[in-house]
Amino acid sequence: MKIAIMGYGTIGSGVAEVLRVNQDILQKKVGEPVELKYVLDIRDSIPEDNDKLINDFSIIKDDEEIKLVVETMGGIHPAYEFVKACLESGKHCVTSNKALVDACGSKLVAIAKEHNCNFYFEASVGGGIPVIRTIYHNYAGENLTEITGIMNGTTNYILTNMREKGADFDETLAEAQRLGYAERDPSSDIDGFDTSRKTAILLSMASGNRCRHEDIYTEGIRNISKLDFLYAGKLGMTIKLLGSVHQIEDQYFAYVVPMVIPKSDPLFSVDGVFNGIRIVGNCLGTTMLYGMGAGKLPTASAVVSDIIAAVRHQNEFQGIGWSEKMISIEPMSSNAFSYLIRVEGTYDDIVDDIKEFFLNEDSVLSPIVLDGRNDEFALVTDIMFEGDFMENVKEFEAKTGRRIFHFIRTKKDNSDDI
Ligand SMILES: NC(=O)c1ccc[n+]([C@@H]2O[C@H](COP(=O)([O-])OP(=O)(O)OC[C@H]3O[C@@H](n4cnc5c(N)ncnc54)[C@H](OP(=O)(O)O)[C@@H]3O)[C@@H](O)[C@H]2O)c1
Repeated sequence: MKIAIMGYGTIGSGVAEVLRVNQDILQKKVGEPVELKYVLDIRDSIPEDNDKLINDFSIIKDDEEIKLVVETMGGIHPAYEFVKACLESGKHCVTSNKALVDACGSKLVAIAKEHNCNFYFEASVGGGIPVIRTIYHNYAGENLTEITGIMNGTTNYILTNMREKGADFDETLAEAQRLGYAERDPSSDIDGFDTSRKTAILLSMASGNRCRHEDIYTEGIRNISKLDFLYAGKLGMTIKLLGSVHQIEDQYFAYVVPMVIPKSDPLFSVDGVFNGIRIVGNCLGTTMLYGMGAGKLPTASAVVSDIIAAVRHQNEFQGIGWSEKMISIEPMSSNAFSYLIRVEGTYDDIVDDIKEFFLNEDSVLSPIVLDGRNDEFALVTDIMFEGDFMENVKEFEAKTGRRIFHFIRTKKDNSDDI
């Protein structure tokens, strides 16, 4: 099969490298050579594969020999127009581009179906971790009730370093940027939008319908401090940025927030730039996928797995059911959590107020106090709906004149039952 790559940056060049290094293995597995014919790039010269370099997309679109196109340019436009045109010409398309999949995935799957070819996007979530295929094919017989993951290596690297070095957010981000683990403009990672796009794709895969990442409540990690880690550490817990989707009958819940998680959670040990995705099914129970969620060769490896699937299914649409029907996500206020809250002052004279607003009648206040600090303390609230919690924070502050400096959500009440 002759193929083309559009966009020769980190991932595009990685795909060319995997095809070159593993060409014999690939040929054995699919029964025919996979030959790179064109590389579309806007630059005039590329160190390797120069003989394949073209600047004009129509060459790829109009070449009938090209049966598969890899899109690794990133962004929505012109990626969407290029992929659409290729699918309409009956060419299979493979992408690593989560922005494209999140915004236009269901439309592109429908176009692929209409033209009896395939649109694959394994690398768009979890880099080298095969999560799309696992959810869609391997767990096709499951009622998936929860998918929760650490899906952004940059934020996980920052949070891991804050915990290990007792450092604050700003200095850890600056170090991550210096070492190349964070972009110069890190907003998409640290404000949670990258995780939100991936969460939307996972919810789409689990539900078979469309959802918009804009509808997913998203908080990043800018406000996490070393004090938060000290309190979490006293509880034997840690803080992770999680993207989470829950399905309870026909209701969908989804959010991206930093959460305090216990050692018993398999995501606790997912550190540094690694990703982990915990999947819960009604018969399966809990399972976790773990690995490199980004990077040139791990991501390219996922793209190549899609190329193999396309060669194996070159004469048929492989039947991914992703309808254009929008699902609605329940408001954040209807999720229930416990909260690690940091309260101004000492607790002695406000025990009754704390119990009134944050604890059940039969619960006992277990304050967490850091050595040498009497300007604040922390506690973990009982489980309550987010909407009630927000109201209670306001009322508590008004009644006591004490501020809640910060709160971080922790284990959700129903995560064990579903
Ligand atoms: N890097 C990762 O670890 C990773 C992991 C998973 C998924 N992804 C996704 O994979 C995609 C590619 O990421 P990347 O890291 O490889 O990005 P990258 O290094 O910036 O590569 C993109 C390449 O595409 C070129 N390009 C942009 N617009 C083009 C156009 N209209 N025609 C031809 N070439 C064009 C860019 O050229 P210029 O540089 O000249 O603009 C650049 O060389 C993104 O959607 C990203 O989110 C990346």
